[in-house]
Amino acid sequence: MDDIKPYVQQHKDRFINELIDLLKIPSVSADSAYSQDVIDMSEAVKKSLEEAGCDKVEICDTPGYPIVYGEKIIDPVLPTVLVYGHYDVQPPDPMDLWTSPPFEPVIKKTEIHPDGAIFARGACDDKGQMYTHVKALEYMVRTNTLPCNVKFMIEGEEEVGSKSLGWFVERNQEKLKNDVILISDTGMISNQQPSITTGLRGLSYVEVEVTGPNRDLHSGLYGGAVANPINILAKMIASLHDENNHITILGFYDNVEELSREERDEMAKAPFSLENYKKALDIEDIYGESGYVTNERNSIRPTLDVNGIWGGYQGEGAKTVIASKAFAKISMRLVPNQDWEEITELFTKHFTSIAPKSVKVKVTPHHGGQGYVTPTDSIGYQAAAKAYNESFGVKPIPVRSGGSIPIVALFEKELKSKTIMMGFGLDSDAIHSPNEHFGIFNYLKGIETIPLFYKHFVELSK
Ligand code: BES
Ligand code: MN
Ligand code: MN
Repeated sequence: MDDIKPYVQQHKDRFINELIDLLKIPSVSADSAYSQDVIDMSEAVKKSLEEAGCDKVEICDTPGYPIVYGEKIIDPVLPTVLVYGHYDVQPPDPMDLWTSPPFEPVIKKTEIHPDGAIFARGACDDKGQMYTHVKALEYMVRTNTLPCNVKFMIEGEEEVGSKSLGWFVERNQEKLKNDVILISDTGMISNQQPSITTGLRGLSYVEVEVTGPNRDLHSGLYGGAVANPINILAKMIASLHDENNHITILGFYDNVEELSREERDEMAKAPFSLENYKKALDIEDIYGESGYVTNERNSIRPTLDVNGIWGGYQGEGAKTVIASKAFAKISMRLVPNQDWEEITELFTKHFTSIAPKSVKVKVTPHHGGQGYVTPTDSIGYQAAAKAYNESFGVKPIPVRSGGSIPIVALFEKELKSKTIMMGFGLDSDAIHSPNEHFGIFNYLKGIETIPLFYKHFVELSK
């Protein structure tokens, strides 16, 4: 494995160009206008797995977008690593905030990425990170150093809730049998301080509709005499947090696991600068649940956020009107032990109960999933820690992330194996935002680190 660094150096231009080609395909799963592109992307992933040396690659049809499955089984008695990733991306909007078009990748230098970063939707989440595994496989196959079996399962609906993946996993337990699941779809602290994600938050995502009068009304003739659904919705949303920024939904915190003082002290050791945090976001002050610090608020604590809110007149100029309806999309990030379906029910009950009689309320659940915590004493975690230590020259820190990959909890339930989350992105890479990017350093380091994981995992499994 000594030749991984020279191999990456020798092939890095090709690696970058191949990723750039994948990033040109606008595989936006949320918007049906891109459905052919999502299909095209699955074909491109299939081709890349074949070229990297998988023996069997197939496009598996599902009720939704296809799942690309590939494998290289060298000896059934050896351990099997199952790699999961996603080839779909978030919608690129708002378009006007991109400094270069989202599906025309370009390399630009930034303060954090002095060696350059590839700017494109999906660069980090998750095409770039997913592709580190394809190129790591290429290296191991070409140099005859693949030490175990490998399976790839790359889906196209992660950004919209992984519905078909649940369907697929339930039906293909034998095919997907593995000893460890490996995912690069999270981040690390910084390029100088790698970290391994040991936790993900769960999610409940709902849409609410508040209806007042049966039609839009003149706001002079009717204003003050009937409920304005936008006013009411704003009030209802505001009431979901109290003055300490605790969520007011009855029963919301019932199953929340409180961390011990020791665990919280351990978390506090991860490097973090509040000053830099505020500076990077251009905010005067932070905001959140009292009693918890930033790194706790965004990882071990559940939250509720409005993701979008609309209704009424939004065109040019002024129109005096009381809209008939107001809408909002609300996400709740959950922590382990909170059941997302139960929380969705609690939300629905609560939100309906706080509405005045003068409006009707409809709550529509979108999708959700359970949180996840992976132990640090597993062979998989230990192998990952050794791999980072070798490639970065720094011991990685375990970190619980605030993001969600709902399918991970389902993997554990259905496939009975632990997931190791070796992320190579940074929080500043602007995933889901305009100008998403992935550092060239991070991309190449990912490719270098993964074969080391395989080596250590097989050694520790003996
Ligand atoms: N890769 C992200 C999740 C992530 C990013 C976890 C960084 C940890 C660190 C994933 O693609 C994602 O965006 N998940 C969604 C949930 C999904 C159901 C839409 C999320 O977290 O909002
Ligand atoms: Mn992702
Ligand atoms: Mn995402």
